[in-house]
Amino acid sequence: MASDDEKGKDPAPAAPAGKKLDRRDVLLGLSTVPALGLFGYAWSRQRAYEQKQKEAARPARAVPADLSEINVALLGAGAQGQVLVDAMLRIPGLRFRAVCDVWKEYNQKRVVNTLKKFKFEVNGYEDYREMLDKEKELDAVVIATPDFWHAPHTIDCLKAGKHVYCEKEMSNTLEGARSMVLAARETGKLLQIGHQRRSHPRYLHCYEKLLGEANILGRIVTVNGQWNRAVSPDIGYPERYAMPADRLKQYGFKSMEQFRNWRWYKGLGGGPIVDLGSHQIDIYNWFLGAAPAHVMASGGNDYHDPATHEWYDTAMVIYEYETKAGPVRAYYQTQTTNGSQGYFENFMGDQGTLVLSESEANYPGFLYRDPNAPAWDQWVQKGYVSAPKVQEAKPEGEEATLDVRESVSPDLHRVPVVLRDPYHQPHLENFFDTIRGTAKLHCPAEIGYETAVTVLKVNEAIEAKQRLSFRPEDFRI
Ligand SMILES: NC(=O)c1ccc[n+]([C@@H]2O[C@H](COP(=O)([O-])OP(=O)(O)OC[C@H]3O[C@@H](n4cnc5c(N)ncnc54)[C@H](O)[C@@H]3O)[C@@H](O)[C@H]2O)c1
Repeated sequence: MASDDEKGKDPAPAAPAGKKLDRRDVLLGLSTVPALGLFGYAWSRQRAYEQKQKEAARPARAVPADLSEINVALLGAGAQGQVLVDAMLRIPGLRFRAVCDVWKEYNQKRVVNTLKKFKFEVNGYEDYREMLDKEKELDAVVIATPDFWHAPHTIDCLKAGKHVYCEKEMSNTLEGARSMVLAARETGKLLQIGHQRRSHPRYLHCYEKLLGEANILGRIVTVNGQWNRAVSPDIGYPERYAMPADRLKQYGFKSMEQFRNWRWYKGLGGGPIVDLGSHQIDIYNWFLGAAPAHVMASGGNDYHDPATHEWYDTAMVIYEYETKAGPVRAYYQTQTTNGSQGYFENFMGDQGTLVLSESEANYPGFLYRDPNAPAWDQWVQKGYVSAPKVQEAKPEGEEATLDVRESVSPDLHRVPVVLRDPYHQPHLENFFDTIRGTAKLHCPAEIGYETAVTVLKVNEAIEAKQRLSFRPEDFRI
């Protein structure tokens, strides 16, 4: 089953209304309607989805007596903004006060209307400074604008005394990310960066129990991961809701096409390596307990029209880490011309392998015990991993002969942790719990910065066509 968050990932292809299409929906849509008809298709899917969300979220409006209400605004009501609102509607104790989005005739209106259906008295704004001036009671702002707006939006919200949840990538520039860290420190307000896997219970279980307590993989020596996407049309928009040229220009966009597909443009986003890779490279650093020492990368615009896709559509990257346990080489690839095997991270140690993703449908946590590793019975008994399924090497056909030198296949275990809520809900909960003083941020500004340094260097390495080094001080502010 594709969960809500599967739909809410970095946007589904050609879903002009936003984010409500999962991969299955898109395939279905592509097979039943011509490309331009996708807009209507997306809309009807979205309506059905919103109805479900309403039902799922209804109990959350009753504020439990022991919870103080947190006044929240959304800044950036596009695909991801809607996903975050859908997740927040399931969290008790939040009061939505405002929605700010420059596309007021479309995205802003849609999210304001959604929230009004839930009986929230929300005001819509085009200009975030006006919102900050007028909405004095706000405690927190959740930001899901394009990456190049994150730094000014975050800094001004922090300076206005609000706690901020800001989507990844923290910023499209290192200077932007650095100034966000400094603003969080100066104001003493909370800044959570939206690397939601940091709060995913399966990732936490792997980090704390499997890699920490059990050291179940032994010494990790190599890592690989990927996010592959099939070719997809550019994101569109309904002509009658196009923004006027002067407003587009005022907010840094040259056209509606660029406004909808900002990820691909230099100066606005960072291309797939930043958009998708940042989620997973963040996990490399987290699980290895280190930042890389070197990076080399090959990439380019190998397929798409460079006039509308300024960033690289293909990137193949090798990081070299010096961890406490020894050197680690970590490969990562992202490409947008073939969706084979989707996305996952794969950690390989001298005693086992862990393959995981945030999805419940694909790679929901597989563990392979290497035949030379000590038995994992105690971890099975403790419930840390499922009982093994023995993999048998079998000849495929009658004529095939099993070579006796064939390696014995490792036993397959599963990570027995399932997330039934939308993917972003635990990370948002962690943010609101920290505001209430009952938790600690899972991805504060400093961690977001470390990941931004690690990821943004890839585009630099592709351009330089050489191995680049990091200094330890590059990751610190
Ligand atoms: N954590 C995740 O899994 C995840 C998934 C998808 C997107 N994201 C992140 O969320 C952010 C938004 O992505 P998206 O897919 O929703 O993009 P989007 O283009 O669908 O939405 C961006 C919204 O911001 C609005 N906007 C642009 N400039 C603005 C400004 N100056 N002031 C107010 N509103 C402005 C646009 O009108 C639009 O509604 C990005 O940083 C992206 O990387 C994170």
